[in-house]
Amino acid sequence: MTDRRINAKWWKSSTIYQIYPSSFMDSNGDGIGDLPGILSKLDYIKSLGVDAVWISPFYQSPNKDQGYDISDYQMPDPRYGSMEDVDAIIKGCHDRNMKIIFDLVINHTSDQHRWFQESRKSKDNPYRKYYIWRPARYINGERRPPTNWQATFGGSAWEWDETTEEYYLHAFLIEQPDLNWEDAEVRQAIYKEAILFWLDKGIDGFRIDVSSFYSKHEFVDVPIKKPEQYVQPGGDTFMDGPRLKEFLVEMQRETFSKYDSVTLAEMPGTRTLEDKLEFVGESSKRFSMAISFDLASIDHGGHENYFLMWKPYDLKEAKRITEAEQLLSGPKTDGWTLTYLENHDQARCISRFMNDSPEHRVISGKTLAMYLLTLSGTPIIYQGQELGMINVPKEWPESDYLDPQSWMFMRDIRDDIKHGVKSITEQEAFKSLQIVARDHARVPMQWSNEKLAGFSSGDKTWMRVNDSYKEGINVAEEEKEKNSVLNFYKSLLAFQKEHSDSLIFGEHRGIEAENEHTMQFFKKSFDGETLFVALNFSGDKQKISLPDGTTELLMSSSISTDDEGVLQPYEGRIYRI
Ligand code: GLC
Ligand code: CA
Repeated sequence: MTDRRINAKWWKSSTIYQIYPSSFMDSNGDGIGDLPGILSKLDYIKSLGVDAVWISPFYQSPNKDQGYDISDYQMPDPRYGSMEDVDAIIKGCHDRNMKIIFDLVINHTSDQHRWFQESRKSKDNPYRKYYIWRPARYINGERRPPTNWQATFGGSAWEWDETTEEYYLHAFLIEQPDLNWEDAEVRQAIYKEAILFWLDKGIDGFRIDVSSFYSKHEFVDVPIKKPEQYVQPGGDTFMDGPRLKEFLVEMQRETFSKYDSVTLAEMPGTRTLEDKLEFVGESSKRFSMAISFDLASIDHGGHENYFLMWKPYDLKEAKRITEAEQLLSGPKTDGWTLTYLENHDQARCISRFMNDSPEHRVISGKTLAMYLLTLSGTPIIYQGQELGMINVPKEWPESDYLDPQSWMFMRDIRDDIKHGVKSITEQEAFKSLQIVARDHARVPMQWSNEKLAGFSSGDKTWMRVNDSYKEGINVAEEEKEKNSVLNFYKSLLAFQKEHSDSLIFGEHRGIEAENEHTMQFFKKSFDGETLFVALNFSGDKQKISLPDGTTELLMSSSISTDDEGVLQPYEGRIYRI
């Protein structure tokens, strides 16, 4: 075993806190979170004990996909604030000894970006090659897109453009045309415009949006799953094209490597350890860490045609995924793991993986925190997760769900039913939204039990506030409550720092792979300390056999732990061996 603490980069011993700008803090009462709001809460973030902040996109955007459709990479959107505010946040983080990470969305732009505005004007416009244009094909005299590919959130991945009578490709919304990475000049323009500009301003790195989508596969039809329709689901048509690795090496060389910056890259698609190492091994020269989807998607895809269809998750599967991810930062590799349970694309982890009832919410939130913060690698905590925020109430009507992924899912289901495609019912579809919709993460942050959760001084917010702020789930009350989820996160973050030799840099070894109720693993440091972590994911008491040599119970997510080897429902414990 090698001592991986030696020469470790700063980000290996850092915890990252993610901010979703429109829902973090509203400073001017218009109901939308903003940059001055973020600035006013930097002390709060620091008080948690985290080391870095990642802010989701705040750039100029028509906001069809919450800022992941960028129309100007170098300007904050006016609803969020000014460039002075951005500079103040960079400085504010650095003054507090925190790193600052921005979001990099370069698989696509907004259709309002000047590149696309030019591109669509004529076939000989110099910007034509910036996007992916193809002529129509005609089937029985009818105009059809170049392939039958379905976009990630539904509908065709090709959009007809009247002006030049061709289709353009969009892996996501119609308003998010894909950039043409095949062209070297386009890639250089992306680096300059979207990456180098911000690195020059002094940020410490990027979270990178859907980076496995840059290189496209050949434009051929995917197999027919829904015979009645032209557009066919085929999720991985956009992933891992033949030139992906080449593009990523070039990007790293021309941009990130010059600044020693960190990169957290979204890499959808299940991979083997060898393949992962091609992306995040230090010798691969691509990314620092990858955002994997294996755990995040564990309760998705309950119907082969609909990714957003919920299915119950299996703890044994979650353990297999966890073990596989942990290998990445294991002693035999030069890779590194990134761990997360929530972000702006995921519903709340307590509601998905544990129990969000008033009786079990707190212990569930704490045990999930224990899972996240005892694994090796770099953890990300999403705003509100530290409060134990939960999904929105079941009573909310469909119209309170604003995310295009949610409404396109419902639209496709209704459409499929109408066309006689074998589908699921509308009720089943909506029930899925209640569990896994992205909307659950996007409601305003809960600061206090005052009006609108203390998020805004206005009369209404861009997205409805989750009523749970009145039940003690908010910063002000949790700061005062000794046994709150918030205070547990703070203690656990301090504990994790203190035991980083075993928890972050140590060797991970899971046991009891077949146990359907508990997750148990050892963390062994290079020079001696061994910790044992046992987490109960079930609503029943679970007996565990304490390993030989167990000396003391260091921490529990339960307030009362009387019986040595019996975990309370949803309880997690850390022992010293
Ligand atoms: C990423 C983002 C998500 C967005 C998508 C398209 O997955 O996290 O919010 O919708 O990319 O940009
Ligand atoms: Ca505002």
